[in-house]
This record gives sequence, structure tokens and C-alpha cells, in this order.
Amino acid sequence: MRHLITLDDLSNFEIEQLFRLADQMQTQLATWSGFCKGKLLATLFYEPSTRTRLSFESAIGRLDGRALGFADPDAASVAKGETIADTARMVTNYSDLIVVRHSWAGAAHVMARYSNIPVINGGDGSHRHPTQALTDLYTILQRKGRIEGLTVGICGDLQYGRAAHSLALGVARFGGKLLHISPDGFQMPEWISARLKHLYDQTPAETNQLSDVIGDLDVIYVNRLQEERLPPEISPEAARGSYLVDVAIMDYAKPDAIIMHPLPRVNELAYELDEDDRAAYFDQSANAVPIRMALLASLLGLEQLVLTQPPTRETASDQQACENPNCVTNHERYLEPETEIITGAVLISVCAYCGTLKA
Ligand code: NCD
Repeated sequence: MRHLITLDDLSNFEIEQLFRLADQMQTQLATWSGFCKGKLLATLFYEPSTRTRLSFESAIGRLDGRALGFADPDAASVAKGETIADTARMVTNYSDLIVVRHSWAGAAHVMARYSNIPVINGGDGSHRHPTQALTDLYTILQRKGRIEGLTVGICGDLQYGRAAHSLALGVARFGGKLLHISPDGFQMPEWISARLKHLYDQTPAETNQLSDVIGDLDVIYVNRLQEERLPPEISPEAARGSYLVDVAIMDYAKPDAIIMHPLPRVNELAYELDEDDRAAYFDQSANAVPIRMALLASLLGLEQLVLTQPPTRETASDQQACENPNCVTNHERYLEPETEIITGAVLISVCAYCGTLKA
């Protein structure tokens, strides 16, 4: 059984196979409808969502399966204090596959550990969002024909934006060159920079001014400020509105650059750009459906060509609590801290749940 908790759960070959399957599902829908007949997808959304939840529900519905779940945790037993582990054990008996979104980093990993059915991470705190990254990589390939050799500028709140984290690692894996553009205090976190450096030999240039680099970018990936995730000591005031992608700045971009955004947008991406041929953000939200169809069919084992061997992880229990206050291990007390060793140019020790670097 396979889960999708981080992009590391898939090899590059598997990702390419998924994209091929998504192509077919997008162009020959009639051939594939009926593929998940009788299958149930549990959508457990402990945090707000529009696109992710609806595109998963659309994806299972288009394959003739059905969705059940909740979009408001206040209406579920978590409001009575139920743990993630117990919810996982129970939902395992009610469905064939789970997609979970949660505000704690590592929550999807916990769900996978206690579940007997495949679990998909629909976003865990400011940690990861692998299915958004798959959709983003697929959209880049559709628009630009390749990722290798492209310059991808990721702009906005890179500290707390989980879509930005998964995308950066995905772009680096496929040979794209990253540039990071963020307001002061919202730079890419260390645990991503360390992975980029030691696994993919990349140390992306950083700036707080999009205008400095816009002419170099093939992909301009904009993120909103994740105001709901900011710790109380950080004020969003200074950063709010400090970067805006609009018609004026796009005059300096390459004529064939593309503009991306995981959405929702707040005030960092001007509506006037919707008419610009370079705008690819609505393609992204449309591509979410075939990508998630391909993923559901593959994780359910219905499309045997796609998923082969699960990756191996080297983990060990740890005495030291994780220093990330938002890590699931600091909220669900039955969990023991665990270290994972990642082998790149050097060995990196990280929290096995939330990826935070260990001393
Ligand atoms: C993103 C998310 O939830 O992380 N949205 C999405 O899934 N399309 C981005 C965001 O909320 O800023």
C-alpha cells in the first residue's frame, strides 16, 4: 500500500507516469469513467479548503466513486477531543482512501501510520502540499514543455506557504533553477534550503524585490501571505501588499513567462492579469482534477503501471521533543519524537513528522 504524504513518496518516473495517466484522463474522460466504481474517498478537512476538497470530490465522482467526510472539524468528533490516530483507525473501516488537510505539520503522516488504507496529504500546516505541487509541475510541463533548465521564481510568503515548499523541492528534483522572492521575515525556511542544497545542489538567489529579477523568470509563482499561520509576534502589516504582480510589473517579464498561483489570491495578484495569455493559474485549478483522478486510481491500485516500490526511510526514536511548536508531535501526546536521516551530499537529521532540522 502506498501513501502520498510528501513528493518524496514518488520517484520521478512515477510522477511522469502519473502525468501520462492524467493526460489520458483529461482527454478521454469517457474511457476512464467507471474506473473507481464502488470506491469511497474520505475527505477529512480540519482546515478550510475550496479547490483541494472540491477537486478531489470531483475527481472521485468523475471516476464513478463517491466521497464522504467533513469540511468543518467542529462538526466531527475532533471537537470532542478525538485523536488523529483514532480517527484514522475508524475511517479505515468506512472508506477505501483518505485525503486529509490539517493545520499541524506532520498530521497526514500520523494518519497514514494508523490507517490501513492509502492516505493523501491535502496540506499539513505550513509544511507540505504535495498534490498542489503535482498539479503545478504538470501545468508547467503543459505550458512550457519542460522543467529542466527553466528559471522558476517563487514569490511571496515562502516561510509559511506549504505550496511553495513542495513546489521548490519538486522543481529542483526535475532540474529547474529556483529564485526566491519574499518580504523580509518570510524567506524560505532552513529545512527546505538544506534539502535544496544537499539533495539537489541548489542555493537559490534570494531577493525581496520581484522587479530585480522578473526579466529572468520563465515561471512567476505567486503565493499569498499566510496570515492565519503567523505566530502572534510577527505582524503581517509590513509584508501585506509589499509585493504585487500586476500589468505594470509584467511589462518587464519575458513575453513567454507564465504566471502561477495556487489560489486563493488576496491582494498579491491583480485581476487585470486574468486577460494576459501568460496567466496560468486557472489552468492550475483545472488541472487539479485530472491529476487527482490519476492519483486516486493509482493509489487504489487500479492502474498498476504507475506505482511500484515505496521508498525506504531511515528513522530512529529520539529523546528530544521537536522544536517546531506546530509539529503534530507537540500536540498529539501519544506520539514519540522521531528523527529521520536524509542522505544527500551530507547526512541531514530532521524531524520525521514535520521535517524541521535537528541540531
Ligand atoms: C493553498 C493551500 O491551501 O496551501 N491553496 C490550495 O490548496 N490551492 C495555498 C494557500 O492557501 O495560500
